[in-house]
Amino acid sequence: MNRLIIVSNRVTTPSGKGEETVGGLAMALAAALREYSGLWFGWSGKTVTEFNGHMNLQRVEGVTTATIDLEEADLSEYYNGYANKTLWPLFHYRQDLTAYDRSFDEGYQRVNRRFAETLRPLIEPDDLVWIHDYHLIPLAFELRKLGVKNRIGFFLHIPWPAHQLITTLPRHKELVEALFAYDLVGFQTPEYQQAFEEYVLNEADGVITADGLLRAFGRPLRTGAFPIGIDAKEFAELASSPRAQRTYDVMAAHTAFRQMIVGVDRLDYSKGMEERFLGFERLLSDHPDLRREVLFLQIAPLSRESVEAYQEIRARLDALSGRINGEYADIDWNPVRYVNRNYRRDELAGVYRAAKVALVTPSRDGMNLVAKEFVAAQNPNDPGVLVLSRFAGAANQLHEALIVNPNSPEEIAEALNRALSMPLAERIERWRALFDNVQREDVTAWRDAFVNALAATRSGDHARSAE
Ligand code: ADP
Ligand code: G6P
Repeated sequence: MNRLIIVSNRVTTPSGKGEETVGGLAMALAAALREYSGLWFGWSGKTVTEFNGHMNLQRVEGVTTATIDLEEADLSEYYNGYANKTLWPLFHYRQDLTAYDRSFDEGYQRVNRRFAETLRPLIEPDDLVWIHDYHLIPLAFELRKLGVKNRIGFFLHIPWPAHQLITTLPRHKELVEALFAYDLVGFQTPEYQQAFEEYVLNEADGVITADGLLRAFGRPLRTGAFPIGIDAKEFAELASSPRAQRTYDVMAAHTAFRQMIVGVDRLDYSKGMEERFLGFERLLSDHPDLRREVLFLQIAPLSRESVEAYQEIRARLDALSGRINGEYADIDWNPVRYVNRNYRRDELAGVYRAAKVALVTPSRDGMNLVAKEFVAAQNPNDPGVLVLSRFAGAANQLHEALIVNPNSPEEIAEALNRALSMPLAERIERWRALFDNVQREDVTAWRDAFVNALAATRSGDHARSAE
């Protein structure tokens, strides 16, 4: 078996104790690397006055990590800048929030070069290199310049947007060309893969060759859809652990057995939380009989706090939860409970299990692992109902959820009402089909499908055509 080198901006080996930063990428990669002898390379999350290229090697929970510190300017131009003020909003269809700034571009290229130069000496001839997410699109291109001939794959955790949208990005062609330095580029869904192909065919004179490769910029590229999953077995076990049971008991006592609706998301404008809050408000106003019978728990740990758009969504959600409680709360009942902290994995599993309904309603989301975790954590004899946005990648697999348009508070309210009154037999039938999918297309299946596809590409093609 080849050694696997994983590269991502964020490197976290979850302790499970709820201390580390959250996000689907870190959760999935930690699970994916568990049985692999490999290396995980990325940013330490810390900054230094001047970049020094020092690597911090650590072995945590069976995974070797190598991290580097970045400079303040890197943080503002690369991480907060090009990654999170340009690519993230654009790829989530928020052109209104997308900022273009030449210094972001430069910072993005610089950090990718720094990653390449520091990583280069760690790469051995037979290693498979697997690079993750929008922060690091140009990394293979930089590694090729340094003479790396290994097979290099890229997986995009977020959506690939429609052809017309990507052309609004200055120098969009350079970004796409950089992807042709990889041997394999993977997307979460066939829809994103097709959007990418459409761009290449229309904007870069690309062609699809007889053996299914995409050819453009003088190079061949294999693309594919590889829907990411969770460690379903482990998560289901966590949900019946003593700690999860304790959390469940505490929740049950505190909610006085009211029907609990739950949302769990990083505090991000792409998660559709405002419309969700409005949907819940609508439920209360349309169904007076449900007041006092339900409560909505939204867990939303803070994320990317230096970016203005995140500060703004936070202020809006604070105001909205306050307004709904102000209008509907009673001396012994608060309809909305809104918390911004992190939880341990087993506590989170207990929370999911105590909920009758999960609201997973992003306006756009590459996949959304919370939807899958909720399913895995349910009691098979009395499962809760998943309400899921049609614009989450997960909707491509989880057909038996109640699928909604996340922009419509009315639709969310209707789905909530339907979920809360769904007969047990229907809940069980839907849940079985969902759990079957979550279990089958789990994180190991995702990793193996990608790594096998990468190993099967013809190594060296790119290095040769770049020479
Ligand atoms: P994203 O990657 O955009 O954050 P996902 O839904 O794919 O969205 O992944 C989020 C991950 O973060 C999930 O594994 C979820 O359990 C975890 N998470 C979210 N909120 C919390 C929290 N408050 N405490 C602990 N883990 C959390
Ligand atoms: C999403 C992205 C990841 C990112 C995570 C958390 O899952 O796809 O690349 O790591 O959000 O965001 P952060 O900015 O804290 O790393």
